[in-house]
Amino acid sequence: MRRLRAPGIRDLVAETRLSLKSMVQPLFVDEKLSEPKAIEPMPNQFKQSLEGIQTEAGALEDLGVPAVLLFGLPAHKDDVGSAAYDSEGIIQQAVRKIKEVTGLIVITDLCLCEYTSHGHCGLVRNEKILNDETLPVLGMIAASHAESGADIIAPSGMIDHMVQTIRAALDLEGYTDTPILSYSAKYASTFYGPFRGAAESSFAFGDRRSYQMDPANAAEALWEVQLDIEEGADIVMVKPAMPYLDILKAVKDQFGMPLAAFQVSGEYSMIMAAAQMGWLNETVAFLESLTSIKRAGADMLITYWAKKYAELNR
Ligand code: PBG
Ligand code: ZN
Repeated sequence: MRRLRAPGIRDLVAETRLSLKSMVQPLFVDEKLSEPKAIEPMPNQFKQSLEGIQTEAGALEDLGVPAVLLFGLPAHKDDVGSAAYDSEGIIQQAVRKIKEVTGLIVITDLCLCEYTSHGHCGLVRNEKILNDETLPVLGMIAASHAESGADIIAPSGMIDHMVQTIRAALDLEGYTDTPILSYSAKYASTFYGPFRGAAESSFAFGDRRSYQMDPANAAEALWEVQLDIEEGADIVMVKPAMPYLDILKAVKDQFGMPLAAFQVSGEYSMIMAAAQMGWLNETVAFLESLTSIKRAGADMLITYWAKKYAELNR
């Protein structure tokens, strides 16, 4: 076996190759900011102002990063998350700003948790998520994202029938060619912790276990993915990534659909923290983690290291 492991030869026979072409950089845009703000538990990641997001998008395009996944933080929240479908909302403005100066593929995260005062991903009554009442709101948000110029709509709320509702809303408004990237198998994970701090999307009561998946379940993920495919998802996602490599593999094997993996904030923070302690080498660790995610079957890699990967390969 050792003969093919020699430097130079090893690369010729590598089965898995990372490529910037499949990477997506998550970005945060905050209506309340006038200059970039560091995200403390995620070193080298920033929340941007509306002006800043334009500059950052330009820098990413110059580096060859093909796509961004946009999260918005509104100045005002209410019970129903109305800032999420405001045509002058933060996401809507940010998409227009980015599209004005770049040819980046702009993917918009579609969820209510950053916009609701209670911080849940759907409408709520008596501390219970109202699945069906939430659906029309998701349709409105999708249409408004598409109208602003979003290239791909990515619903992340794990609301049953969200994909079918969003497909219908997009088609009705004439956005028949706008694809849906569904957060199909999204687990109720503690690895979202740093994100929730950054996105100011922590919940006022309870947790997300009534709508996000139980980490104990694998067969259920296939069921979730199948339903999303039937409802019209163009790309399906497994999230988080590294703790769920078995799910990535099972989904790819079973459906062969375009598959995205989200290497989430906690996965980033773990490696960064160890790197800061001098316990891991950041670059070697993130390359190995992304390689494992790709090897498991992911096509698209949503990773906070997309920009760094581009810089390393410049
Ligand atoms: C909101 C959303 C979350 C993430 C993406 N969209 C957090 C959550 O569901 O609580 C997590 C992203 C990350 O941790 O990097 N629905
Ligand atoms: Zn949410």
